[in-house]
Amino acid sequence: MTSKRAIADVFAWEALDSRGTPTVAAEITLAGGARGSVIVPSGASTGTHEASELRDGGTRYGGRGVAGAVVNANGELARAIIGLDASEQSRVDESLRQASGDDSLARLGANAVLALSVASAQAAAAADGQPLYAAAARPGTRPLLPLPMVNIISGGAHAGRSIDVQDFLVVPLTASSFAEAIEVAWNVRAATARVLEDGGHSVALIADEGGLGPVLPTNRAALEAVSRGIERAGYALGEDVGIAIDIAATQFYNPHRGDYRLAAEDRDISAAGLIKELQEWAASFPIVSMEDVLAEDDWEGWVLATEALSGIQLLGDDLFCTNKHRVGTGIQLGAANAVLVKPNQIGTLSDAREVVDLAHSAGLATVLSARSGETEDSWLSDLAVGWGTGQIKVGSTMRSERTSKWNRLLAIEARLGDGADYAGRGTLAANSGASARA
Ligand code: PGA
Ligand code: ZN
Repeated sequence: MTSKRAIADVFAWEALDSRGTPTVAAEITLAGGARGSVIVPSGASTGTHEASELRDGGTRYGGRGVAGAVVNANGELARAIIGLDASEQSRVDESLRQASGDDSLARLGANAVLALSVASAQAAAAADGQPLYAAAARPGTRPLLPLPMVNIISGGAHAGRSIDVQDFLVVPLTASSFAEAIEVAWNVRAATARVLEDGGHSVALIADEGGLGPVLPTNRAALEAVSRGIERAGYALGEDVGIAIDIAATQFYNPHRGDYRLAAEDRDISAAGLIKELQEWAASFPIVSMEDVLAEDDWEGWVLATEALSGIQLLGDDLFCTNKHRVGTGIQLGAANAVLVKPNQIGTLSDAREVVDLAHSAGLATVLSARSGETEDSWLSDLAVGWGTGQIKVGSTMRSERTSKWNRLLAIEARLGDGADYAGRGTLAANSGASARA
């Protein structure tokens, strides 16, 4: 007899993400009738070592169409998983990976592969009448609401490159629940908008992740604005609320010269110069987390940065690309002390989860992250709770593709009450230089 969890039907189609760019959507139906569906996200400041999305090229949608990936999802990939038990996630994911036959998943498309990986997980949870966070959790573990990192101001690839640093975020430090943390971040965003307006800056421009996109003269000016916003909202700077930045340094690294171009400030600086600059920012502003401080393959520089910026969470995004081999290298070398986890960087949920577990086993913090091109889905929130990642980053407090994630977490917390824990600030990696070493 066929199990009610056996994958019976796969149906994929082309949808649009929050930037209006085509993306893969899929629905999986199990033999017992349960369904799971998904629309996958897509990044703009992507790392070289990410799994590869398949895009059509040609003239449709400016070459960004995903009709080919959809054909693969409905064809080769569907055939690889029809009949498998959807609750056996690693088996489903392994079959998807084998069907593509390449580590980067370029042949059939990482976008097609991720769609089926997530839809299968959703369908399996539905078959058991469970929310996804419960289905994703290890038996016996309590649901953990993550500490949110919330975008306030954007620059770089997410806001027309008006400033070099890609994201300026806040981390509520003293909030005692997830809901309270979101309220704090909302207050800071509103107050920062008023600070910018008072300074004569336009706050009408909203960046890709829902943050403010003012045209500012320097990166420091953005740090200044967020700091004043925190104070204006009535919080103690650095005590109640800390600042996180995603430098996304690969984006302004010049591989020919081996240095970094701060275009907004018309300066070229070396890796050592950039680390020194970051140290100065850390001395002037209450920065608790820095992401992608150097280029994606500058392991040596990253080790130096991890030592030089002690006391701060140093988060690897493009550096690790949610790849266990790269995270393993980081652990060995002592490069970074936290891992940004984006399921679409690696292509399947099993692989992303393995990276979370590997990071935790080595004492590294994890931040589950959305992409700048997002969708109305909220499965990422369930994974943060079920996997116990500790932290999450999905953008600002507005735009539906962002609030869908916050809203899902608000719903889970409201529903579970004392049945769940809130991670709080204790989940931030406090770098002691050597702490990340195995
Ligand atoms: P991306 O940006 O989704 O455009 O890659 C997010 C990030 O860099 O963290
Ligand atoms: Zn990043």
